[in-house]
Amino acid sequence: MEENHFISKKATPIPWTTHWEAPSNIALIKYWGKTAPQIPKNPSLSFTLSSSVTQTQVVFEPTSPGAFDFNFYFEGVAKPDFKPKLQTLFKRIGSYIPWIQGYQLTIKSHNTFPHSSGIASSASAMAALAMCLMDLEQKLVPDLEPEFFHQKASFLARLGSGSAARSIQGPVTLWGVNKMQDRSSNLYAIPFGPDLHPVFSTYQDAILLVDKGTKAVSSSQGHQLMHQHPFASQRFLQAAANLEALVPVMKAGDLEAFIKIVELEALSLHAMMMTSNPYFILMKPQTLSIIEKIWEFRASTSIPVCFTLDAGANVHILYPQDFKIQVNAFIQDELAVFCQKGQYLLDQVGEGAKKV
Ligand code: PMV
Repeated sequence: MEENHFISKKATPIPWTTHWEAPSNIALIKYWGKTAPQIPKNPSLSFTLSSSVTQTQVVFEPTSPGAFDFNFYFEGVAKPDFKPKLQTLFKRIGSYIPWIQGYQLTIKSHNTFPHSSGIASSASAMAALAMCLMDLEQKLVPDLEPEFFHQKASFLARLGSGSAARSIQGPVTLWGVNKMQDRSSNLYAIPFGPDLHPVFSTYQDAILLVDKGTKAVSSSQGHQLMHQHPFASQRFLQAAANLEALVPVMKAGDLEAFIKIVELEALSLHAMMMTSNPYFILMKPQTLSIIEKIWEFRASTSIPVCFTLDAGANVHILYPQDFKIQVNAFIQDELAVFCQKGQYLLDQVGEGAKKV
């Protein structure tokens, strides 16, 4: 599908209020490296989470014809410093939602996960806002097909934050052209499909909060550094190959193969960071201690638990629901000590964005 397929019609402004929540997601095949506008250099695949969500209410008020402005409140407080990121989003998506002209928006947002937990909230925040916009588009342009509705929401969210494209639907989504799905696209994410093995629709993700501070190098800077990275072209091929290997594994429910690909991807992402110029390390000593403990626990119990990492020091521990009791006890007894103030979040794979 081409970009211009997503250009909507103009419409007379009407007063409208809507409220949506969208989850965070954790990539198993990592997106790291892009070209403008937010076009990934390789396909990625992620688990959509369930409890780690952003809830966003948007009040659309008709104002003077052709005018457009917005106010943004985060957790009840006006946040003018968030405005530039949203301005960039509205600039990028304006031509696809021309009906937005003539509105004053009040956007109120909050996260269910702790503020400054080191969990990236841009994916859930951009996805929740995209759903609010599509909610009004559906009212103004009736008879939108559900598939188009979700694809356009993912398309709009992607233009705010690349990985946000994967936060619209669940439980597993793929974003980026790949050989495994005929309908795959660089413009939006699509669900894995009905042949996902059931073990993955209830998979658990415990997020161990190792470092809750601001990252030394942001994701945008990290993506940028891939442009002159000496290993970039091999990395993009590796990610595509890992995705091609992972898809049949996720259909078959082969957990041993799943673990090998997922951990390889996590460490490959961080290897790219460590070999960028300038180089940087986002892992902390506790990140490595947790990884070693997971490997020991897996070897001694044969429980299929593994880790993945986002662009930060926190560790995501992934395991089937059937092992929840044993793994949660292991986290509490042996891993919480490595977390800042002993904090971690227990989440699981979810179904995607919903109306509040
Ligand atoms: O969506 P961005 O631009 O914040 O990039 C996200 C990159 C990673 O989280 C590291 C990987 C991914 O695929 O989510």
